[in-house]
Amino acid sequence: MASNGSAHAAPAGHADEYKNHLFPPNSASQGAHVSSREQYDEMYKRSITDPDSFWGEIAESFYWKKRWQSPVRRFNFDVRKGPVKIEWFVGAETNLSYNCLDRHVEAGHGDRVAFYWEGNDLNEDSKITYSQLLKQVCQLANYLKSIGVKRGSDVTIYMPMVPELPAAMLACARIGAVHSVVFGGFSAESLAGRILDSKPSIVITASAVKRGAKPIDLKGIVDTAVKRVQAQGHSIKTVLVFDHVLAAKRENVAFTEGLDVWWQDVVPRQPTDCPVEWMGAEEPLFKLYTSGSTGKPKGVEHTLAGYMIGASTTFKYVFDHRAEDIYWCTADCGWITGHSYVAYGPMVNGATQVLFEGVPTYPDAGRAWDIVDKYKVTLLYTAPTAIRALQSFGDSFVTKYSRKSLRILGTVGEPINPEAWKWYHEVVGEGRCPIVDTWWQTETGAHMITPLPGATTLKPGSATLPFFGVEPAVLNEKGEEQEGECEGYLVIKKAWPSSMRTLSGDHERFETTYFKVYPGYYFTGDGCRRDKDGYYWLIGRVDDVINVSGHRIGTAEVEGALTQHPQCAEAAVVPMEHPIKGQGIYAYVTLMVGTEYPPPASLKKELIATVREEIGPIATPDVIHWAPGLPKTRSGKIMRRILRKIASKEEDQLGDTSTLADPSVVQTLLKMRGQ
Ligand code: WT7
Repeated sequence: MASNGSAHAAPAGHADEYKNHLFPPNSASQGAHVSSREQYDEMYKRSITDPDSFWGEIAESFYWKKRWQSPVRRFNFDVRKGPVKIEWFVGAETNLSYNCLDRHVEAGHGDRVAFYWEGNDLNEDSKITYSQLLKQVCQLANYLKSIGVKRGSDVTIYMPMVPELPAAMLACARIGAVHSVVFGGFSAESLAGRILDSKPSIVITASAVKRGAKPIDLKGIVDTAVKRVQAQGHSIKTVLVFDHVLAAKRENVAFTEGLDVWWQDVVPRQPTDCPVEWMGAEEPLFKLYTSGSTGKPKGVEHTLAGYMIGASTTFKYVFDHRAEDIYWCTADCGWITGHSYVAYGPMVNGATQVLFEGVPTYPDAGRAWDIVDKYKVTLLYTAPTAIRALQSFGDSFVTKYSRKSLRILGTVGEPINPEAWKWYHEVVGEGRCPIVDTWWQTETGAHMITPLPGATTLKPGSATLPFFGVEPAVLNEKGEEQEGECEGYLVIKKAWPSSMRTLSGDHERFETTYFKVYPGYYFTGDGCRRDKDGYYWLIGRVDDVINVSGHRIGTAEVEGALTQHPQCAEAAVVPMEHPIKGQGIYAYVTLMVGTEYPPPASLKKELIATVREEIGPIATPDVIHWAPGLPKTRSGKIMRRILRKIASKEEDQLGDTSTLADPSVVQTLLKMRGQ
């Protein structure tokens, strides 16, 4: 996969050199919202020295029912001084659905297309304008109210990428309900875990979806999850099912009277206006579950006003958004990228978007560029893993299409390797479009370190400089801030508007994970380097989290899933390099006592199936390596460093193994490779 015969793909040696190339803003970014480095410097400085006036001014262009009090921000990041607390725009009242929809319709933009929907199969498409979407959101909000959903209620959403998905999020926001969107690729078990954590009375889903050639029985997965949840003592009162006629026939979908309700039977009957619930700035907007280094996924909680300002301000500046743009973000709404850069940031800005249900390689690897031409996409936002996957099919799938409309290209999710950057820049963008490499996290809610296309000179592979209001620092092992050029742990010093506020129901875990590692700082979990120009180069996670295709998978979660198999006694999971996914999952498995190694080949398949069932296909292990014993210290701690070295075939660099309880396990492990 690594080589694709493309004329533009840089050979390995060459790529590192490419990192030092500088790409100053070009004519494509003329007239940008931030149009010079001086302007960025001036705005950044003011955002740090005077956040009150900086964010206050920005907030003026949003609709507020009630204004905030001064100061605009209050926070404590230092656990030694008391509980961690973050507040923005205290005292203000607003509504996100109002800012995304009503405001544009009232300003006369109701006929502007909100979403061009492109279905999984060719020739499946539709569009919805802002005023149509507003009506639909109101109808759904009214239906939710009619079944007792109200301010503060939890709602779980498990849907494919149809316009009804962002509509469902906006309907919750309209009435003050707290949504938890679960990515449609997660298994019934994962969905059940998330439902049990937030305990909604309703789940919104769809009958099915096709992803590429494969149909996925979403409703069946929800049914299984609802039963599991029931067995644990929580009952779901309503499953609202969007009848996705293009993916499944209604008569083939299992339906339980009294529990299941067809969206099309109830929503269109509701009145098309629904007054908004004016919400306090710090009331919760949504929860989104993400993997941590230990235990079960964490429910990251974001609140209304700061998140709204953060997501929409970054959208405006980072993509240099203008009214005539056609913006396409390939992320699913089930991830934070789909929350901030499909549902909310673009909508607050009144953007016209493409919403794509399928995969960029179906029916062939030209689909993405076909979509770009079909809708004249100007701003494209995707992930390095998608770029590498498309690159591996060769240039001809790209060059077959015009792509003339493209103006800015964005990337997110993992560090972008210079080869992929080069291909994205030279082949996809024909050297014309700046690449905005945006570093951020589910927890940060919005872009944190990112270029601004009209202001920042790009360096391939660097996320460049902090966004307004973001104060990063690099710490050494001892937790000391480093000056100038350095490498270490990336932390953030002060609260930014879209900071997460807590972990759902577990403020203590929130403090432990993010604020106790280096007291006084928000700990990102990422390693980074800062160069002589102050540019940040993200290196990757420094905790036990694997970044698979830009999605976070906790090693502990995969280990937990593997041990669900009756023959698995113990498992240890480490990241491995993967040419397309960035990182893959490498699992060491110890079988129950008495099993002979190697066991029958079918056992690997069974173990993989167990993980897919427990978590979902995204957590599928790439390698299973039999481990009659795991390298442990005398106190029983697994030495993952050794496992990582063996996984990357660097056993000549194992380092000190003298602290192992039984050093011979290493030799046994090496013998088991490839078995
Ligand atoms: C982790 C956050 C933010 C939306 C997608 C992932 C890695 C993210 C970049 C980037 C290098 C990146 C980090 C981060 N990451 N963007 N541009 N360059 N690394 O969200 O699942 O919360 O994961 O993704 O390791 O901590 P997430």
